[in-house]
Amino acid sequence: MDRAVVWFIRMSLFYFLLASVLGMGMVSSSSWVAYYRPLHVHFNLLGWMSMMIFGVGYHILPKFSGKYIYSTKIMNAQFWVSNAGLAGMGLGWAMIGRGFSPDAGRSLLLAASLASLAGAGLFVFNMAMTIQEVKKPG
Ligand code: HEM
Ligand code: HEM
Repeated sequence: MDRAVVWFIRMSLFYFLLASVLGMGMVSSSSWVAYYRPLHVHFNLLGWMSMMIFGVGYHILPKFSGKYIYSTKIMNAQFWVSNAGLAGMGLGWAMIGRGFSPDAGRSLLLAASLASLAGAGLFVFNMAMTIQEVKKPG
């Protein structure tokens, strides 16, 4: 397996655990629901779910078209962009929710959200190029 694949899966498992701990905290304390709901949601859906799909997708999907991944450079770059994006979104939301430098938190959230969006774009482009069917003559 590529290192990026292994690390996408490791980070996905890490975010699953983190989101579950936050979820338990939210069950135990209603103030946590107010503070940490968007973190719980995105650590689960962008962290656990999407990162697992990135890892498994990069490993499995190229095999359907009998090719290797279109660009391992894009895959490696996407690993860092997506992880920086999600970590920054989490930190930004926590800063806004807890009232700790909310203005800085909002700027961080905006920058990190753009990184997450860029990560999604890199994945979509790389996958679309990978599974693109080779045109048959005639
Ligand atoms: C240990 C596991 C989990 C616990 C204890 C937990 C707990 C919670 C709690 C307490 C809330 C807030 C509910 C409220 O509004 O009062 C919540 C919301 C939410 N959780 Fe979890 N959760 C867990 C796992 C998951 C997983 C695996 C996912 C998705 C993959 C998920 C997705 C969501 C979403 C999307 C919301 C927001 C729902 C809405 O918008 O109303 N959760 N969770
Ligand atoms: C570029 C990536 C993303 C950004 C920047 C983003 C941003 C946001 C923002 C700003 C909110 C409102 C949070 C608030 O209550 O203040 C939100 C809510 C939500 N997002 Fe995302 N999101 C992203 C990706 C995703 C993805 C991939 C999923 C699902 C697979 C998702 C599922 C949700 C859900 C379910 C809510 C409602 C949460 C709740 O009920 O509290 N988001 N998102």
